[in-house]
Amino acid sequence: MGMGHLVRIEDGGDCLCAPGESVLAALGRAGLCVIAVGCRGGGCGVCRVRVLEGRYRTGRVSRAHLNADDEEAGFSLACRLYPESDLTIKAAGPPAPDVVTNKAAGKPAAGTKQSGRINPWQ
Ligand code: FES
Repeated sequence: MGMGHLVRIEDGGDCLCAPGESVLAALGRAGLCVIAVGCRGGGCGVCRVRVLEGRYRTGRVSRAHLNADDEEAGFSLACRLYPESDLTIKAAGPPAPDVVTNKAAGKPAAGTKQSGRINPWQ
């Protein structure tokens, strides 16, 4: 067993991936939150990356999120990606869903009806 492999993110940052450790786990350990984390089990597809350089093996992934053509093209799921040499990768996650910013409209306080009269008995 070696000392692990260097995983370099194309857009900046790198970390050491220990033997047997997934790329996603290594990035998380290094505090590099450049790839979305979901199920961590190859089932949701949010941690999708593309390997630009290097050798690797992959674990079981959901075919709904990574088909054979994707794999052929170098796509992989980081939680199921294990380097076998130093790697250069790039985040390739699904587009983030639109963030719903539900700002409360500034509306006046609920109608407070006031009679023009002051009740002298209260
Ligand atoms: S985190 Fe869900 S597939 Fe990787």
